[in-house]
Amino acid sequence: MVDDPELKGGRLDASVLKKEDLLDYSEGDRIINISIIGAGYIGLTAAVVFASKGHQVICVDTNKVKVDQINQASSPIREVNLDDLLSTCVNVKKNLRAYSDYNETINSDIVFICVETPSKTNGEIDLTYIRNSAKEIGQALAKANAYHVVVVKSTVVPGTTEGVIIPILEEYSLRKVGKDFGVAMVPEFLQEGNALHCFLNPDRIIIGEYDYRTGDMLQEIYNDFSSPILRTDIRTAEMIKYAANAFLATKVSFINEIGNMCRKLGIDTYEVAKGIGSDRRIGNKFLDAGIGFGGPCLPKDLEALINRARELDCETELLQSVSNVNKKQPLKLIEIARKRLGNLSNKKITVLGLAFKPNTGDVRQGSSLKIITQLLQEGAIVKVYDPWAMANAKQIFSGSIEFCDNVLDAIAGSDCIIIATEWDEFKDESLYNGKTVIDGRRILNPQKAKQLCQYYEGICW
Ligand code: UDX
Repeated sequence: MVDDPELKGGRLDASVLKKEDLLDYSEGDRIINISIIGAGYIGLTAAVVFASKGHQVICVDTNKVKVDQINQASSPIREVNLDDLLSTCVNVKKNLRAYSDYNETINSDIVFICVETPSKTNGEIDLTYIRNSAKEIGQALAKANAYHVVVVKSTVVPGTTEGVIIPILEEYSLRKVGKDFGVAMVPEFLQEGNALHCFLNPDRIIIGEYDYRTGDMLQEIYNDFSSPILRTDIRTAEMIKYAANAFLATKVSFINEIGNMCRKLGIDTYEVAKGIGSDRRIGNKFLDAGIGFGGPCLPKDLEALINRARELDCETELLQSVSNVNKKQPLKLIEIARKRLGNLSNKKITVLGLAFKPNTGDVRQGSSLKIITQLLQEGAIVKVYDPWAMANAKQIFSGSIEFCDNVLDAIAGSDCIIIATEWDEFKDESLYNGKTVIDGRRILNPQKAKQLCQYYEGICW
C-alpha cells in the first residue's frame, strides 16, 4: 500500500484535496479521450468497444506491424465481429488510431494499461512490460497539463499496482498520485472467442480505485454498460480477478477429477454435471469435463497466485491440487490411446484441434500441445488440423508433425483420432464412421458414437 496519510480504508477521499491542488479537468464531457496501451486481446477489444461507443481512442503498441494493421483496419487477432467493428471505427467514425509512441497519450483523459503479464519459468508473474509501460506513461504524464487517470487492466497480483506501478508513475512524472493524476485497477473478465460480447456485457464491472475522483470518472465511462458496478480499493480488485480465475479453474479440475472416476465406473460425467449444476448454489457453468483448461490466462494466473501465496507464507493446498489435476488431465487421453493401440511408436495418430478452445487461433497452454508433445515422445506419427490455429502451432511443431489442409486429410489413414478442441466442424458424426476415436471434449454423443465408430471412448464418460 502506498504510504499516504490521506488514504482512508485503502482509498483516497477526493474531499481532502483542495481545489487549487487539482489540475484542470473538464468533468462531465460525453466524449472521453482514451489511450489503450497494448493491442492484444484485451487492449484491442477495449479500444474497439470504447471507440464504437463514440469515445476518441488511441492504441499504443511497441509492435509496429500491429500498429500498421490496426490503422489499415485489419485486426491482428482473430475474434468474432472484430474486423467489422474495427473497420467502422477506423474508416467511418475515424475515432480510433494506433501509434507506437507513448507521447500520443498526453491528450488522453484516461490511459488503460493492457499489456501482457506473462509467467516466468517458476510461475512468478513477469512485470517487465508493466514496468516499461508505467515508465513511459510516467514520462508522458510529466509533460501533460491536465488531470489524467491511469487504469491497470492487465492482470497483476495483489499489491502490484500500489507497490510497483504507482511508484514508477510518480518517479517518472514527478507528480503525485491522487492529486495530479488518478489510478485505478479495473480487471477484465472477457473470454477469448467471445471477446466483444463479453466486454460489452460483463456480469459485473469492478472498479478498484485509488481515490473516489478516479472511480467517479471511470463510472462515467462504464455507466452506459448495463452491468452492475462494484467499487473497491485497488488490491481488492486485483484479488477479485485472480480469485475468479482460480475458482473457474477449480471447477474444471473438480469435474475432471470426478470424471476420471466416472469413466472407470461407467458413469457419464455430463449427466452428473447436469445433476449437480441444477443446484443454484453450484451453478451449471464450467462443469464440462475434458482434457483440462488451457489458454493464456487460467493456467498462468493460477500459478501466479500460488507463487504470491508462497511469498506470503500462505499454504495453497487446494490451488496446487487444481494445477496438478490439470497438468495430468491431457495425458489421460494418451493412456486411453495406449490401452487401445498398445505401444504408440510409429502409430499414425490424428489430433483434431490445436486451439485451447474453439473460436480462437490461440494455442497458448493448450491441452492439445501437451498431448502432441507426449505423442511425439512416444514415437507416434502425428497429423493435425485446426480451422484457425495452424499458423500458431506451426511456430511450435514445425517439421515434427504433419499439418493437414482439412479435416478429411487429417483423418485419412489414421490409426486413431483424438478430438482435442470442440470446433463445430468436428461435430459431423459421419467423419468418424468405422474409425477409432478418443474424444477429449464430449463433442460426439457417446451412445451414437459407440455404434458408428469402430472404437469410441471419452475421457470422462
Ligand atoms: C478465462 C476466463 O474465463 C476469463 O474470465 C478471463 O478473463 C480470462 O481467462 P479464456 O482464457 O478466454 O477466459 O477461456 P475460458 O473460456 O475461460 O476457458 C479456459 C479453458 O478452460 C479452456 O481451455 C476451456 O476449454 C476450459 N474449460 C472451460 C473446460 O475444460 N471446461 C469448462 O467447463 C469450461
